[in-house]
Amino acid sequence: MNFWQELKSNLDHPIFSLAPMEDVTDTVFRRVITKCGRPDVFFTEFTNCDGVQSIGQAKVIERLRYKKIEKPIVAQVWGKTVKNYYETAKLIADLGFDGIDINMGCPVKNVVKSGSCSALINNTKLAKEIIEATKAGVNGKIPVSVKTRIGFSKIQTEEWIGFLLKDCNVEYLTVHARTVSELTKVPCHFDEFGKISKLRNKINKNALIFGNGDILSYEQGLDVCKKYNIDGVMIGRGIFQNPWIFNKNIVDPKYITPKDRIDLLKYHVKLFEKEWSKIKDVSVLKKYFKMYISGFPNASDYRIKLMEAKSYEELNFAIKNLEKEIIHLR
Ligand SMILES: Cc1cc2nc3c(=O)[nH]c(=O)nc-3n(C[C@H](O)[C@H](O)[C@H](O)COP(=O)(O)O)c2cc1C
Repeated sequence: MNFWQELKSNLDHPIFSLAPMEDVTDTVFRRVITKCGRPDVFFTEFTNCDGVQSIGQAKVIERLRYKKIEKPIVAQVWGKTVKNYYETAKLIADLGFDGIDINMGCPVKNVVKSGSCSALINNTKLAKEIIEATKAGVNGKIPVSVKTRIGFSKIQTEEWIGFLLKDCNVEYLTVHARTVSELTKVPCHFDEFGKISKLRNKINKNALIFGNGDILSYEQGLDVCKKYNIDGVMIGRGIFQNPWIFNKNIVDPKYITPKDRIDLLKYHVKLFEKEWSKIKDVSVLKKYFKMYISGFPNASDYRIKLMEAKSYEELNFAIKNLEKEIIHLR
């Protein structure tokens, strides 16, 4: 049994995953989330196969750092050269990842222009070759999954998802319920999950389908899985609103105290400095401040103070001051 099958048969609830998010869901963030309430599976940020197989490998491969506590963890890859998928898949299996996921959904202009990611929706021949090469690379050691959208410029669920399930024999599939052209500008077409689930039942009953897009609570995730008969959900931006989103015992994040939030921020900064200070600038942390410093009086003023920090030392100092100021809120 691979880890997806194990999760499916051992869990008493649908499978919840944290979405891959470029420059957000690195090893440090994933470990921070394990403190709040972990998802059933983590994904890495997307990693370019062509970069991994280039002379720049040492730099690109930093994205694949992970610690045991993050397992089960799936490495997500993208790129355009079939041979590089094969080689990278071999490497990812050797690095001890539990699975490999192929990005066929990213709508970023330059990426699409290069013929990768969501551009593969319009190039089914290459999409199939990439899936086959990745499967050959892992050689049965770990499962191969795909993350995609419901179409390119229009909804093509039957055609595209049907192709992945039938012609490419994809057994683990995450679908963001929007087309590529829609980016995240319109509400998700959740009804498409129902169509996908029916397609799955027709083509391969054992395939697992995960829904993605606009899931903002654990409860909502459960409802979506039940309503559309899918096996799990992947949550992305919802984690910014509530880092405890995967913790089924904390139904309302308003019960999280300011102290809990600041303690988590301190932990994040400490781990980040330890892991990345030689590689990443402290400013990378700015995108997380709202996640921790919100929901209490003057939170936006406190965030501005953190934003002004230009070094780890200044940031730690600003956090200490913030702790003193919010002591009465504990
Ligand atoms: C900052 C950011 C970075 C992202 N990076 C990736 C990525 O590396 N790979 C990927 O498949 N999707 C990526 N996505 C898309 C998310 O995984 C997810 O599909 C999308 O945000 C919709 O889900 P949500 O509404 O739960 O956020 C990214 C999204 C955001 C907001």
